Amino acid sequence: MNQGSGLAAVLDQIFEKLDRIPNFPETAQRALRLLQNEEIDFRELERIVRHDAAITANFLKLVNSAAFGLPRKVNTLLQAFSLLGINQIKFVLIASCLGQYLKEPIKGYNLTPEEIWTHSLACGLMSEALARRAGLHRPENLFTAALLHDIGKIVIHLYVEGELENLQQVLRENPELTFMQAEWMVLGADHGIVGAELLRRWEFPKEVYFAVRAHHDESLMLESRLAALTALSNALVNLMGLGTGVDVFAYHLPEELLKAAGVSEKDLYPAIVETFEKTEALKASLFS
Ligand SMILES: [Fe+2]
Ligand SMILES: [Fe+2]
Repeated sequence: MNQGSGLAAVLDQIFEKLDRIPNFPETAQRALRLLQNEEIDFRELERIVRHDAAITANFLKLVNSAAFGLPRKVNTLLQAFSLLGINQIKFVLIASCLGQYLKEPIKGYNLTPEEIWTHSLACGLMSEALARRAGLHRPENLFTAALLHDIGKIVIHLYVEGELENLQQVLRENPELTFMQAEWMVLGADHGIVGAELLRRWEFPKEVYFAVRAHHDESLMLESRLAALTALSNALVNLMGLGTGVDVFAYHLPEELLKAAGVSEKDLYPAIVETFEKTEALKASLFS
């Protein structure tokens, strides 16, 4: 594989442009940190979030959108928090910060905004369903890692769209390549490494950006349980056809992945059913 200076230049260009992406709001960071606690103090959460008018407005808008299933119109953050689950709160926080980057299709990856949100949300829900069945009680950071695992695709789309047209062609001409190898050929990086770099700059916890970095890397994904669960969730959600893009079948998975994730085969089917049902319910509220 040619790793010439042209490729290094593309990678440099991506990372240089990462600096221009506005920071993930401090408010959302603090709120996500608070949500890692065993006991959540909703009043404290409200004190953090209400200082950011944009997040507050987005939060209330999303929460009131049709069927988050809430029984009545919600006018205050405190009401919203008490009616939503922790992971729904995390999802709304992250979605309200990232939504601005997701208004148009991600062409190189063949994804509409709705598809990438559905895929991300389903992956978060799948990670939760698997973790619970594997006996992990609310594993710190897993939902966030699973939700954000493909954020590198957005970055690459925003900043090097021209190169993306070559991706599909490279894959067509070289069917033996995994998608990650094709990304390296065209971009000099893959969406895992780009997403991880962005999250590192945004000061997400290390285990979150490591899992994002590792989600298509067959050896790295075995190195931590969080990474294994994130990669497994992504693979299952892809196979379910939830918001998949051009790369759905273009990866290999290591045999040891289930073991590294601590998930048994019998847990897969119920986790898939649960993820499908929850995703459908939430999707209806998000995109109606
Ligand atoms: Fe991915
Ligand atoms: Fe994915």
